[in-house]
Amino acid sequence: MSARKILSLLADGEFHSGEELGAALSITRSAVWKQAKKLEDLQVELHSVKGRGYCIPGGLNLLEPEVLKLSLSEDNLSALADLQVHLEIDSTNRLALEFAAKQVPGFVCFAEQQSAGRGRRGRAWVSPFARNIYLSLTWAFDGGVSALEGLSLAVGVAASNALKELGGGNLELKWPNDLLHEGKKLGGILVEMSGEVSDRCWVVIGIGINLQMPSSAARDIDQPWTDLESVVGHSIDRNLAAGTLLNHIMTTLNGYQKNGFAAYRDDWQQMDAFKDQPVVLSTMLKQTTGIARGINNKGALLLETRNGIEEITGGEVSLRKQQQ
Ligand code: BTN
Repeated sequence: MSARKILSLLADGEFHSGEELGAALSITRSAVWKQAKKLEDLQVELHSVKGRGYCIPGGLNLLEPEVLKLSLSEDNLSALADLQVHLEIDSTNRLALEFAAKQVPGFVCFAEQQSAGRGRRGRAWVSPFARNIYLSLTWAFDGGVSALEGLSLAVGVAASNALKELGGGNLELKWPNDLLHEGKKLGGILVEMSGEVSDRCWVVIGIGINLQMPSSAARDIDQPWTDLESVVGHSIDRNLAAGTLLNHIMTTLNGYQKNGFAAYRDDWQQMDAFKDQPVVLSTMLKQTTGIARGINNKGALLLETRNGIEEITGGEVSLRKQQQ
């Protein structure tokens, strides 16, 4: 029996006796107990009280493929090869890369939890169960790798537009692809390429959005962070959030495929967290200081240094404000 069935019964946040759960699932009470133990592996907060049964305090709002598809436009629905929701996975990007290697475009994968969520620059992405959004999808682009330079920035614009539609205001983008609110990280984007680089590139686009980060999980985050529910000040339906995010992203990937990055540049610059700020750019080898002067038509950072304006393309770089 899958853990999903018992989770669906407990999702209402009410107490359910072992007997009741056993009857609903056609299993014995001791099998219910074993299922409850498995939920602990998912780090689900499950209370077990003698005489009352089991309860997940606050309930759960699990992702349902058919519900989140309701937020997709007709065009985006028909571009889907598959839409999977995994209770637990190592990394949705890792799975999507398998489909990119098989050259399947429009494969979409969400997870309730990632045990090895990947962030940029080899960092881990903190991915607690059924609270945030972890999404990866595959896409194919023509024009070689240079046509992909601005892709993660365009995805950043799409994700911000989705979060605005869900009520988030004052969102900022930090080059190349962090989503911030008042300087705190709200989400991140990890674009990974599959296979050999040729004219047609197979790409996985991974997005993580903090929706309702539990403080127990947040202990593992090594930078200032926030979540969308704190930004908007009320709870948000996860299926609506996930569907809205996917819809904006698929629409943008289509637009990017046809017209490239230039059409997204102005929107990106409007949300530029570091516009005209003194910054430090770090690579593995060196640090460069300068003033961030926005981005060019391809998504490269324009960094004003003593030598004039340098055009910095993405990769293993990071940017931070200079301490005054
Ligand atoms: C960053 O470091 O800012 C990028 C974070 C990207 C996290 C997302 S969560 C869904 C997808 N699967 C992963 O393993 N990583 C990305």
